[in-house]
Amino acid sequence: MKNSKLKIQYAKVFIGERERKHINDVLDSGWLTTAKKTLQFEEKFADYIGAKYACAVNSCTAALHLAVDALGIRPGDKVFIPSMTFTSTAEVVRYVGADPVFLDTEYRTNLITPEILEDAVKKYPDVRFLIIVHYGGQAADLTNIIDICNKNNIKIIEDAAHAFPTKHNGRYIGQFGLITCFSFYANKTITTGEGGMLVTDDESIYNRSKIMRLHGINRDIWDRFTSDKPSWEYDVVDAGFKYNLTDLAAAIGLGQLENAELFRKERQKIAEFYYKNLSDIDCIDLPITYGSFEDHAWHLFPIILNENAPISRNKFIELMSDNGIGTSVHYKPLHQMTYYKEKYNLKPDQFPNAEKTWRGNVSLPIYPFMTEDELEYISDVIHEIFGYF
Ligand SMILES: Cc1ncc(COP(=O)(O)O)c(C=O)c1O
Repeated sequence: MKNSKLKIQYAKVFIGERERKHINDVLDSGWLTTAKKTLQFEEKFADYIGAKYACAVNSCTAALHLAVDALGIRPGDKVFIPSMTFTSTAEVVRYVGADPVFLDTEYRTNLITPEILEDAVKKYPDVRFLIIVHYGGQAADLTNIIDICNKNNIKIIEDAAHAFPTKHNGRYIGQFGLITCFSFYANKTITTGEGGMLVTDDESIYNRSKIMRLHGINRDIWDRFTSDKPSWEYDVVDAGFKYNLTDLAAAIGLGQLENAELFRKERQKIAEFYYKNLSDIDCIDLPITYGSFEDHAWHLFPIILNENAPISRNKFIELMSDNGIGTSVHYKPLHQMTYYKEKYNLKPDQFPNAEKTWRGNVSLPIYPFMTEDELEYISDVIHEIFGYF
């Protein structure tokens, strides 16, 4: 095998001069927490998406919690969510005492499709909310999903943790639904280390989120400390949270945002390589992509070892690791996780596609500036594992 000494991690952050410049501005300003850089980051992010308001927070989980709060979801409410997602999507529903209703997803996209939603609406007519996940960076079919939701009086929150910059029918995710939540966690398509953004066109949702992200205080800290007038005073209008983003994190985000399309293109190149070079292996199912490759954020490249695979997913991961290649799994579905399984008495046969996926899913490395050598090495190792050489 060529290049047998390569070490390739699963994810890698690119930090360049742009981030350093913004960070130095913050260090020089003497103001480290939420202030000018965060405001700038919010404005630039909203402009990028083409949305009216962006509210920066310290994680996508926080954004999802604020979204659930802003929609007034409360104990007794039920919320459709996919089983094939990270626990954040479901846990925020539990934060407010409501209950997730877990749905299966489409095989090879891990998306909730209009057909899946139509069936769910018939089966659970009392559900009034949906948190949809744009899995892996590919948009769900929002046109039809929003239509079904409108007809059935269901409000949508979009979990776009993977989906920046992602488009649906030529428009960025974040322009469609009532509230969209993005993640800037370290391995995401753009990062602030930890961070997130709630995006909306609705002024009252924005105002509520801004207040609740900082203790339920009715004024920004920045505003309180920089006003010319005597201005110590503030009111607490609800029991809020401590979810604000720091200017140091926002500085990294501004630099990353300036490179967002470059990063996306880099990720797309890697996806194209994998499609071209792995499609001859018949025991691997590659992800299905609807629409243009340009519309996809390519946060993940999840493959599935299908029923023809001679080894298990875990053995495959072990062999990749022995060859110096990092991988990950997105996800072990939530219906398999002890808390949700026991609380909601979930059974594997309710989720046939997620089960079939879970038996063989592995995410391959995908991040900007992977080299041709690295990609060829990964392809060689996978071919060798399955006896193709
Ligand atoms: C689908 C999904 N939703 C939400 C989150 C939570 O993001 P954060 O870590 O920024 O809270 C993640 C994180 O990986 C995710 O994958």
